[in-house]
Amino acid sequence: MELSRSKLKQICYECNVTIRDGLLLLQNILGTDYTTLFFNRVIFLSNLQYLKFIEYIEQLSNNEPLSKIIGYKYFYNNKFYTNRFTLDPRPETEIIVELFIKYFLNRNEGLKILDLGCGTGCIGLSILLLYNNATLHLLDISQDALEVAELNAKSLQVMDRCELIKSNWFDEVNDTYDVIVSNPPYVSTNYKLDKAVLYDPKEALFAGIDGMDSYNKILPVAHLYLRNNGKLFIEIGYNQSDKIKEINTELKIIEMAKDLNNIDRVVVYNT
Ligand SMILES: C[S@@+](CC[C@H](N)C(=O)[O-])C[C@H]1O[C@@H](n2cnc3c(N)ncnc32)[C@H](O)[C@@H]1O
Repeated sequence: MELSRSKLKQICYECNVTIRDGLLLLQNILGTDYTTLFFNRVIFLSNLQYLKFIEYIEQLSNNEPLSKIIGYKYFYNNKFYTNRFTLDPRPETEIIVELFIKYFLNRNEGLKILDLGCGTGCIGLSILLLYNNATLHLLDISQDALEVAELNAKSLQVMDRCELIKSNWFDEVNDTYDVIVSNPPYVSTNYKLDKAVLYDPKEALFAGIDGMDSYNKILPVAHLYLRNNGKLFIEIGYNQSDKIKEINTELKIIEMAKDLNNIDRVVVYNT
């Protein structure tokens, strides 16, 4: 069947979906590139493809995130597969990659990195792509998340420099690292999240009544897994910067970086 631009606009309008997202869904269904679809005034679909499109549009209008429907999201310009077992990569987490670049100027350094609570692996893998001689341990408590991280490491062609570790934080870690990067769960169990966020796994989001459980477990022992002059880059949530300073740790805070909304977002620690 033929899907004209005006019909596409009408469907998207009625379902409160942007044309861009409508086109991204069609791109996923047809396997055609976005630009071709964007300039086509008429798009040809089989009946099955059309039904799939309508199903996807309805999912979107029910607040399911686009990334969960099409199965990927871009992070630091790289494509990361994601699913119901992984948190969708967030733009604010890219700050960790930016800070890493700021502190490690030599792109040829053979750094050994741990991505603690890796999910899709978006932080560690993005860094690995910038540092050709670095190696990465991708650690998560969820086997399903580790499988997604492995898929991403393979599709980004860096699996030969990665190792997967299934562990409850440092329980199964026997190494020391130059750098640990982490975006752990930090949402209070009392917090009422947007509907779209509820498509992310709860284990990736919630961290006790004050949202500080992960930090209370990671920070007091993190120094044991860092080498001399090692660094930890860790993301924090809204209003957690004062609480994090109170946690007992042998590491020293060397920077508290803000996000675009001027909220303290990433803490950089040094041994
Ligand atoms: C907020 S998500 C971050 C995922 C990814 N690093 C990112 O930035 O998109 C937190 C991740 O920590 C993992 N996690 C939660 N509790 C954990 C634990 N006790 N030990 C190891 N990983 C854990 C979750 O499975 C999830 O993948």
